[in-house]
Amino acid sequence: MKAIIVHGGAGAWPLSEHRAALDGVAKAARAAYQILEQDGTALDACQAAVMALEDNPLFNAGAGSVLTLDGACEMDAAIMRGSTFGAGAVAALRGVKNPIAVARKVMEETDHVLLAGEGAERFARTMGFPDHDPVTPERRRQWEHLRAEIASGKPRRSGLNERMLTSQPKAPPGTVGCVALDPSGEIVAGTSTGGVFMKLPGRVGDTPLLGAGTYASPDAGASATGLGEGVMKTLLAFRTVEAVGAGVSPQEAAQRAIDLLTRTLGTEAGIIVLAKDGRWGIAKNASTMPVAVMTEGIEPQVTI
Ligand code: GLY
Repeated sequence: MKAIIVHGGAGAWPLSEHRAALDGVAKAARAAYQILEQDGTALDACQAAVMALEDNPLFNAGAGSVLTLDGACEMDAAIMRGSTFGAGAVAALRGVKNPIAVARKVMEETDHVLLAGEGAERFARTMGFPDHDPVTPERRRQWEHLRAEIASGKPRRSGLNERMLTSQPKAPPGTVGCVALDPSGEIVAGTSTGGVFMKLPGRVGDTPLLGAGTYASPDAGASATGLGEGVMKTLLAFRTVEAVGAGVSPQEAAQRAIDLLTRTLGTEAGIIVLAKDGRWGIAKNASTMPVAVMTEGIEPQVTI
C-alpha cells in the first residue's frame, strides 16, 4: 500500500491564499508520491514532501519561516520512522535551507534524537549543509511592523516591555507536515516550522518534540500543527497514534485528540494521521488547514 498525506498548517489562512496553499500541498504530495511510485521509501517520500513545502515561501517553514523577537529565524523540525522508532529532530536551528534534512541526519548519523541551537547549526555544517538565510523580504517587513507595534509599549527591562514577555503571539498558519506509507508497511512522519511570530529567542515549539508535533509507530504516524504550547501539553501526535494502535479509526482518533485540546486548553491546532492500512484522519479546531492526500490510483484530494 502506498499513501501520502500532507498538511500546510492550521490557522486562519486568508481567503486570497487558499488556492496557493492547496496547490502547495498538492504539489508536495505529488512529489512524495512519485518517489513511492519509483520504489522509493516512505522516509525519502516524507522528506521530499516536507522539503517541497519548506522551499515554498507561502508556508511557515524553511523559506517563509517567521522571525523571533530579535529578528532571527529559528526553525524546528522532526522526522520519525514507525517501524524502528528511529527519530531525529532539530530545534531553534538557524542558517539552513531545509531543517527536515538536518533532522534526518541527526537520526541517521548520531546516537541522539534532538539537537538544538548553536550545536544543531554546527552539526549541520559538519554534515555539509551550507550557510543559508531563509528570511524572505515579506517576513522581514512583517517583523518590522510587529516590532514597532510591540515596542511602542511601556519599557520594562533590558529593552523588553510587558507585552513582549507576556503576549502570546498568534501562531500564523504554515507549519508543514507529512505522513508517508510505503509498500513495505513503513510509516514515516515529518514536521517542520518557523514557530510563532515574535517568539522569544530560544523558544521551541511542539514540532521537534516526539509525541507532541510528530510521532510514528508501526501502526500509524501523525503530524500536528497549531500553537505549539497547546500541542505539547496534550501530546497530540502520540495521543492520536496510540488511539489508532488501540483500534480507533484514524478519523475518530484525530477528532478525539483535537476535541480534548479544545476542551482543556482551547488553543488552535490541527492534525493529520495515516494508518498502516492506508486509512487517514484529518481534524482541526482552526478555521482552515490545507491538506492533500494521495493513495493508489487517485490524484491528490485536497481540502482546506
Ligand atoms: N506548531 C508550531 C509551533 O508552535 O512552533
